Amino acid sequence: MAKTILRIDCSPKLSTAHSSRLADELTDKLRLERPDMPVVHRVLAEHPPALVDSGFALAMMSHQSAEAAAKHEALQTSEALIRELEDAAVLVLSTPMHNFTVPAVLKAWIDQIVRFGRTFQSTPEGKVGLLTDRPTYIVIASGGYFSGKRARQPDHLTPYLRDILGTIGITELHFILLEGLARGDLAVEEARQLAQDQIRAMPAQHQ
Ligand SMILES: Cc1cc2nc3c(=O)[nH]c(=O)nc-3n(C[C@H](O)[C@H](O)[C@H](O)COP(=O)(O)O)c2cc1C
Repeated sequence: MAKTILRIDCSPKLSTAHSSRLADELTDKLRLERPDMPVVHRVLAEHPPALVDSGFALAMMSHQSAEAAAKHEALQTSEALIRELEDAAVLVLSTPMHNFTVPAVLKAWIDQIVRFGRTFQSTPEGKVGLLTDRPTYIVIASGGYFSGKRARQPDHLTPYLRDILGTIGITELHFILLEGLARGDLAVEEARQLAQDQIRAMPAQHQ
């Protein structure tokens, strides 16, 4: 099967979201560079992944391999989302900042794909990722500022995504920030310009 560009949108505002609209532009650029790669588009707010329950928590310890997990009802969603991730040569994640961190739908997706024995292994030295690394573009939209001199709030979003994706082996992260979007039209225009310049300057994918 052809490797894909996997795009995951996390905003409750769906296609009108700042983060989704910028991800459209980014995905268009990636498709021009890699027309051979189909885009798989998952809109988490439309189809939120299930929250982990006791069945999942018990099954994940006893059914670690893909084969064993495929037989267990509680791990079906997890297996499907992990396989989707394994098929992706490029990952595009678009998300708002919610309460300084990831929105709940993104956390629900993370809880499904970060699985002991399947996407990471525990060793005496710490956790080791089991997925192949791939370029991962993360578009973040926020009402205020969380980076640079204008930051007036903590950032539990970018360090968290770095840590959790790194845990499963995805370390090549490129953050594209749309900050200050609640500060009026000029601020929105400035944020979009900066982000669009960053996308234009991105080196082409030649994998
Ligand atoms: C529940 C909720 C929590 C939010 N928390 C923050 C926050 O902690 N920091 C911030 O800068 N903006 C926060 N915002 C504002 C959004 O990040 C901002 O509106 C952003 O533009 C939304 O991106 P989107 O258009 O891609 O959905 C929050 C918005 C919502 C709905």
